[in-house]
Amino acid sequence: MNHILHVVGARPNFVKAAPVLRAIRERGIRQTLVHTGQHYDRNMSDVFFTQLEIPEPDVNLEVGSGSHAFQTAEIMRRFEAVVLERKPDLVVVYGDVNSTVAAALVCSKLLVQVGHVEAGLRSFDRTMPEEINRIVTDQLSDILFTPSQDGDANLLHEGVSRDRIHFVGNVMIDSLIRLLPVAESCARNGLPERFALVTLHRPSNVDDADRLREILECLTGISEKLSIVFPVHPRTRQRIADFGMNTDRFLLFDPMPYIEFLSLQSRAAVVITDSGGIQEETTYLGVPCLTMRTNTERPITVTAGTNILVGDDRKKLIAEVRNILDGNAKKRVTPPLWDGYAGERIADILQQM
Ligand code: UD1
Repeated sequence: MNHILHVVGARPNFVKAAPVLRAIRERGIRQTLVHTGQHYDRNMSDVFFTQLEIPEPDVNLEVGSGSHAFQTAEIMRRFEAVVLERKPDLVVVYGDVNSTVAAALVCSKLLVQVGHVEAGLRSFDRTMPEEINRIVTDQLSDILFTPSQDGDANLLHEGVSRDRIHFVGNVMIDSLIRLLPVAESCARNGLPERFALVTLHRPSNVDDADRLREILECLTGISEKLSIVFPVHPRTRQRIADFGMNTDRFLLFDPMPYIEFLSLQSRAAVVITDSGGIQEETTYLGVPCLTMRTNTERPITVTAGTNILVGDDRKKLIAEVRNILDGNAKKRVTPPLWDGYAGERIADILQQM
């Protein structure tokens, strides 16, 4: 393998790519980094590059926001020219965002090999855009790196041949382990002693006015007992403004840089979220996590970790918060290979190819 091209586009991609880029750089293999521009705000993108020490992208496709079809198609159109010009031996894609599937599709048509980091995760819920992205990307990939063994089982079940599947562990946890000491030394900056950390951005939770109102009312109830610290994703901020909803009871923040957010996670009494990656980070940290979804593509965070799915059941959410405040939180076991060396394993495999 002489030349590896990486594609990143959205916030969670940056956290996953950083350890892989570092490990491959240490092995002296030529790399090119392409940012699709799916996320473009300073605090959704640039700050992550700085804190995770990711090199400046060689190419930025500057695709920006749009409908799924527009965003995916526009990335494909612009990325095809880059692949033709740069001629990589292999393209590495990350996670399940639109940038991931768009790049994989371009490469498969150009007969360029694709490696997928975080392969095999399945929520079995095809109403989630990410599930479609996962299924398609995995079908198109030549080499599949899984974070947990349920991923291997899902891929085998879908007919992916065993020799393409590599259980390497969780690259997101590599980044966490590296930067946790820095995060833990962050000043508290007037934060309450005990708080719930909230993140929300799934279309199913925030795009529907009734659903969003119900969630915010439920959080308002919880705020009587526990302060709510809520860094707000741009999509969610827009919806709250569109629907004219009341957030007076919450400590609202703009989306946070990686280290500051990690610091909040490690200090939270409970994390209430609909994110994918945060289910994993809280499991590693041993912090209770209540996930406002009816399913998860990361079942190990429920079976081994601190995660509980509360779905759209507000009574369950309130009951679980009470349970946690009463000292009855789940205990966790660290899942296999969530040890800080997943990026190294991926680099070793690519080097041998
Ligand atoms: C995307 C991913 C999701 C991931 C999330 C992390 C897909 C299908 N979804 O969702 O899996 O969990 O990123 O954040 O790829 N916006 C800004 N500034 C930005 C980026 C977005 O203002 O830098 C706004 C725009 O109004 C945009 C909206 O946020 O329309 C949604 O952004 P988009 O990238 O389409 O999807 P996310 O909801 O961020």
